[in-house]
Amino acid sequence: MDFLELAKERYSCRDYQDKPVEDDKLNSILTACQLTPTACNKFPLRIVVLKSATEREKLKECTKFPFNAPLVLVCGYDQEVAWTRKNDQMNYGIVDTSLGMMNMMLEATNLGLATCFVGVFNETKVKEAYNLAANFKVVGLLMLGYPADKPAEMHNIRPVIQDFTNIK
Ligand SMILES: Cc1cc2nc3c(=O)[nH]c(=O)nc-3n(C[C@H](O)[C@H](O)[C@H](O)COP(=O)(O)O)c2cc1C
Repeated sequence: MDFLELAKERYSCRDYQDKPVEDDKLNSILTACQLTPTACNKFPLRIVVLKSATEREKLKECTKFPFNAPLVLVCGYDQEVAWTRKNDQMNYGIVDTSLGMMNMMLEATNLGLATCFVGVFNETKVKEAYNLAANFKVVGLLMLGYPADKPAEMHNIRPVIQDFTNIK
């Protein structure tokens, strides 16, 4: 698919079919993540794959947006591995993780799947539920599956290019 077509095709899916994601598709999505550029090539990304209903059920305690995705990736980074810019101590882990999540969303779309980046969650509860290490910073929950909905209205709301370029 043409790249801009693919970028337009991706939308935030909030209702999924009761149909599992095939392992080869999951592998392609994780490969898209592996290909992500990261600051200083540190690759601090860490992903927890939640496949079982029991694991996904625990999400209901962690977010008000658990939706009903058959596959969820808890996406974050190792704070001790991510690159920190020396002059102002900015840590690039959140940027690296977001780039990886974008690559995964696009590859999922390319494979006929749908996704939703969920940023509204209680990080403490997520870390407790999945026994994550102290230095694991959770950036987002990536919902994945076959869509049972259509894009919401917000999908078509974007600024015109002139409104976000050449800002003084
Ligand atoms: C960082 C980030 C956090 C988001 N968190 C949520 C969320 O918690 N719940 C939700 O329903 N959508 C969430 N979204 C999806 C956005 O609402 C959505 O991308 C936006 O409305 C544009 O719609 P579209 O993705 O369909 O094009 C999030 C998206 C991003 C990039």
